Amino acid sequence: MARLVEAERGTVFLRTELKSLACAVPANSAGLESKRMKSYNIAVIGGDGTGPEVVREAVKVLDVAAKKFNLKLNYTPYDIGGERYLKTGEVLPDSVLTELRQFPAILLGAIGHPEVKPGILEKGILLRTRFELEQYINLRPVKLYDERFCPLKDKKPEHIDFVVVRENNEGLYTGSGGFVFKGTPNEIAVQESINTRRGVERCLRYAFDYTRKRNREKKLTLCGKTNVLTFAFDLWERAFNEIGQKDYADIKRDYAHVDATTMWFVKNPEWFDVIVTDNMFGDIITDLGAMVQGGMGIAAGGNINPQGTSMFEPIGGSAPKYTGQNVINPLAAICAGQMMLDFLGEAAAAQAIETAVIKIVREKVKSLAAGKMGYGTTQIGDLVAETL
Ligand code: IPM
Ligand code: MN
Repeated sequence: MARLVEAERGTVFLRTELKSLACAVPANSAGLESKRMKSYNIAVIGGDGTGPEVVREAVKVLDVAAKKFNLKLNYTPYDIGGERYLKTGEVLPDSVLTELRQFPAILLGAIGHPEVKPGILEKGILLRTRFELEQYINLRPVKLYDERFCPLKDKKPEHIDFVVVRENNEGLYTGSGGFVFKGTPNEIAVQESINTRRGVERCLRYAFDYTRKRNREKKLTLCGKTNVLTFAFDLWERAFNEIGQKDYADIKRDYAHVDATTMWFVKNPEWFDVIVTDNMFGDIITDLGAMVQGGMGIAAGGNINPQGTSMFEPIGGSAPKYTGQNVINPLAAICAGQMMLDFLGEAAAAQAIETAVIKIVREKVKSLAAGKMGYGTTQIGDLVAETL
């Protein structure tokens, strides 16, 4: 037990008290610029592999949208990632994290380097940022833009349009646990799922509010495993029903076990409006979600702190084998930029980007997969920018 406690203490992710984040207000542009022009400071982390290439296209599109909608976007690049780690040994310096807190939003390309042991960068950069900036929501829309790109037979855009609200700060991701008798035949490995009433409740409330705002079927599905995870999902289910009954009587509540959820994603994706789930289940089902919407080339997500610094990213990885070849699909990063504008309160500009993406997906691209699009990475960026 003592060793277990020790291991727990040594964990990277045990959270210390998080300072409440100051509400991030966009910096208003000063000087001669039009008073109406809103200005936003954005931190940009291209990261590893194809990350910088796709972020470049996202910025290209964002700049055109900004011009059209009278916004000013001020980018500050950060060279966080595998290269910096290999050169300097630094993963994510505390000073950088402190600086990142000053931005309302971060645009991230990808993290993951073939020469760095898996886990170091993912935990040290991606997960640390999600945790320390209290980005407690991972918002992942699953929307099919063109039926040609759906691997499911007879499913069309009207069938695949839902959003997964993944809890992003707790569950199996906290790093709580440890080894006992490591390396011996009696070895024990414990990995604990942490579910706090506060953490679960804020995630559920976000999901209920989101479902209301989305205003489609007004249906929120809790995805869990109440038949086996009788502690964790008991808490989730009780909180879900209590909060739903008390404060969200207009939202239909629905429940699906996670295994059944994967089945419905394939068989009846049209049943879903908004899904709320824990960190690990959310991780798994959103990869399946990405596939049914056409693949990693188009899937974007937002790590959201509603009162603080949020981070937007294409949900695919750094795709090292495609690096520098101008073949990777930048649409997921462009869609991440779109989600970022929406988060910043620029709904019209965000909508314009989505409309342009849909047009390009329907009318131009041959495939959403790297190297098969019929266009290069930069050309796709140009097409979306011209269509805006
Ligand atoms: C994701 C990724 C990450 C996660 C990894 C890279 C740590 O798979 O964003 O879904 O598990 O959350
Ligand atoms: Mn994942």
